[in-house]
Amino acid sequence: MELPFAEAWKIKMVETIRKSTREEREQWLEEAHNNIFMLKSDQVYIDLCTDSGTGAMSDRQWSAMMMGDESYAGARSFFHFRDTVRDITGFEYVIPTHQGRAAENVLFSAIIKPGMVVPGNAHFDTTKGHIEFRKAKAIDVTIPEAHDTQLELPFKGNVSLELLKKVLEENKGNVPVMILTVTNNTVGGQPVSMQNIREVCALCHEYGVPVNMDSARFIENAYFIKTREEGYQDKTIAEIAREMFSYADSMTMSAKKDGLVNMGGFIATRKQDWYEAAKAFCIPFEGFLTYGGMNGRDMDALAVGLRENLEFDMIETRIRQVQYLASKLDEYGIPYQRPAGGHAIFVDADKILTKVPKEEFPAQTLTCELYLEAGIRACEIGYVLADRDPVTRENRFGGLDFVRLCIPRRVYTNNHMDVIAAALKNVFDRRDTITRGLEITWEAELMRHFTCQFRRLK
Ligand code: F0G
Repeated sequence: MELPFAEAWKIKMVETIRKSTREEREQWLEEAHNNIFMLKSDQVYIDLCTDSGTGAMSDRQWSAMMMGDESYAGARSFFHFRDTVRDITGFEYVIPTHQGRAAENVLFSAIIKPGMVVPGNAHFDTTKGHIEFRKAKAIDVTIPEAHDTQLELPFKGNVSLELLKKVLEENKGNVPVMILTVTNNTVGGQPVSMQNIREVCALCHEYGVPVNMDSARFIENAYFIKTREEGYQDKTIAEIAREMFSYADSMTMSAKKDGLVNMGGFIATRKQDWYEAAKAFCIPFEGFLTYGGMNGRDMDALAVGLRENLEFDMIETRIRQVQYLASKLDEYGIPYQRPAGGHAIFVDADKILTKVPKEEFPAQTLTCELYLEAGIRACEIGYVLADRDPVTRENRFGGLDFVRLCIPRRVYTNNHMDVIAAALKNVFDRRDTITRGLEITWEAELMRHFTCQFRRLK
């Protein structure tokens, strides 16, 4: 008999989580103004809010923490971290930062000026925020097929070369950088193929435009290349990652994802001019060049985490867990962005709560229903997150309306996946009885989803 698949780790330390009653959750959600970001984590049973900084570190990482050198300048920990990043990516210049958006802040301060245009495959919201904050424009050049949730494509995060060429052609001399996000979080944790990476970088270079890889989940992307793209089956994850970076000019990384740490980030590049320019912003924003917002011990843990996650069995365990959850949703007929993403399942709320008008925010409503059902905290990636149009102040209903079930690394077991799927099925089975959604009673002007307040309509 063939042995079944199982995790590439065993558990050394556990953390208690608690169930609650429906009555408690009704009250807590009311107090949180129907916004899951306002809940206390103790009010949550299974937390799928994000995979960012929520993973479990290994014994090897915890022991590396003990070796941290907390010197202000020239810490040993920095050199461990820098040499590891150099070795994995091939980028010579490395600047540590406290997280991904800080890397964006430091690099973009050096290279993006008002009026410029920055194409990318669905920039993550902080990335877009840092571009718009500088009065520049972010243009999405993801393949249009990514918006058909039921279409199965192996590399749904790809860039449309046609759309990219149009932007480059129309904005000659005004594009400081192209941002290639691997995997593409915004369209559902979908990977970008090696062929697309190669072609995108070649096209940008033809126009003299450097490419920055937003690499929060580059190891997940490399896994998908290995398992889905012709010619990569026999290469290691490390070899594939190295090839991905070989075409690009730089990377920004939120190490809180594929770095397997709870906090951290960095910029790495082969461009000496960018390095020199960015250095000047690292010191005032983040800290001196050999710590940039991280503790020495965190840099040591990150160096170990990156190596560990590049091991095939480790990343396979991660991706297979997300795919396991997807197989349960398939069994129950629950629609989501297909195929399953690397870090999350993006449930297609529009196709489930068909009786809730878009003005009443179906995905936010479904997020609340899932919490009330079983204390599971998912997160809306939909009409609330899309914010209002800056000019007309109308809600932006043009995009997709997802509930993201985001899976922390090495934290939950497949029994938890079964609970998540069953809870969602229970809501799904009574979907036709859910006819009203939510009304916004208070909202911030930008990035409203974190603090927005809602009233449940009856
Ligand atoms: N880029 C991508 C693709 C991301 O997904 C994130 C964060 C960032 C940059 C910013 O990094 O949080 O370290 O400052 N994504 C998290 C999420 C928050 O839940 O998807 P950060």
